[in-house]
Amino acid sequence: MATRPGIDAMRERRLASHYALRRRTLERMRDKSTDLDAAPMPIDPSIYTDAVFADRERRLLFHGLPIVAGLSQDIPEAGDMMLFDVLGPSIILIRSKAGTVNAFRNMCPHRGAKVVTECSRRTRLTCRFHAWTFDLEGKLIGLPGKEGFDGLDRAALGLLPVPVVERHGLIFVRLEPDGEAIDIDDFLGDFAAELEHLDLANATPIRRSEIPCEANWKYAFDTYGESYHFASLHPTTIGALAYSNVMIYENHGLHARLAFPREEFNVYKDEPEESWPHTDYGGLYFLFPNMVINVNAIAGVGQFYGVSRLFPGESVDRSSTLLTTYQPAHADGVVDTAKWAEMHDFIQRVVTDEDYSVSRDGQNNLRWAPPGFTTKLGRNEIALQHWHRNLNRIMGDSA
Ligand code: FES
Ligand SMILES: [Fe+2]
Repeated sequence: MATRPGIDAMRERRLASHYALRRRTLERMRDKSTDLDAAPMPIDPSIYTDAVFADRERRLLFHGLPIVAGLSQDIPEAGDMMLFDVLGPSIILIRSKAGTVNAFRNMCPHRGAKVVTECSRRTRLTCRFHAWTFDLEGKLIGLPGKEGFDGLDRAALGLLPVPVVERHGLIFVRLEPDGEAIDIDDFLGDFAAELEHLDLANATPIRRSEIPCEANWKYAFDTYGESYHFASLHPTTIGALAYSNVMIYENHGLHARLAFPREEFNVYKDEPEESWPHTDYGGLYFLFPNMVINVNAIAGVGQFYGVSRLFPGESVDRSSTLLTTYQPAHADGVVDTAKWAEMHDFIQRVVTDEDYSVSRDGQNNLRWAPPGFTTKLGRNEIALQHWHRNLNRIMGDSA
């Protein structure tokens, strides 16, 4: 692997951060305890079932906040592009010649056709309807039959830009139509330091899936944020790898990091720190509102990043998860990527067969919940309580 500047310092920061997380985790294992919130929290089921709530949520969260459209290595070279259309408006993300990422509405300024229907490396974009052509900066550079548009300001006929920023290997867009720039430092706060040391900018995508779920996106998302269900719902899968109902919660404002004890920690939980072996386990990174990065280990192989992004579907009771598995740059000693692909398929299977089948059935129950019924988040579901308080604050702030 080629040496990159600062890579050793980044590795040190990563290991120190993950070591601190493991220290707290082993303490909890020895105590047989878990991080707890102050009290149980009731949740009104209408947040999962009400179409009016869902519309406001889409506007305030998914169009108003910076949302991760992809990772840097999804479009590594100039002219590489991807489409991000899971939230409704189709967005083109394209790496410019200067190496930055540009984002545009995938809507031709002529008659509104989709300019890009397939992703491939390009030097220019040509609309298939009447062949208007744009450069990688979105500027109109080809206008067949240009006399037909005499009197129009050609400079104003470029692709419509969408605010975009690339930070710590993540490409954020903001879909709100007012075009205001993204203040990513404000949005990430102190979570930026935790994201930085993952070196996501150099993580290679190995496999991608889109997982449908017949439940509101939050019902599906809530399954990622607690380990209380590991033994009961996942006895032969996740529950065999990690402890149930022991969780470490680290608050970063809107964002958070969680850790669950791995079974192999049990072997050395009573040993002094100096004798702990290396681990590739780094916990779950929750980036508000809809993203989880699972920093985890493939036994005997190395680290993987399982990136899940959840999105509302066409109706309040449908959602979609984009799952992408990345190989970290620091795990590239292994050339064969089959193990990362296998891990991806395993996660997809567990999520689909176990978590999302519970979500689907629960969603249907909540739809028909009697008046006054609330779901309850336990003190042990601390990460979910914080997440829902953040949701309430954002939804309530602008009621
Ligand atoms: S709609 Fe694109 S060139 Fe006409
Ligand atoms: Fe689960």
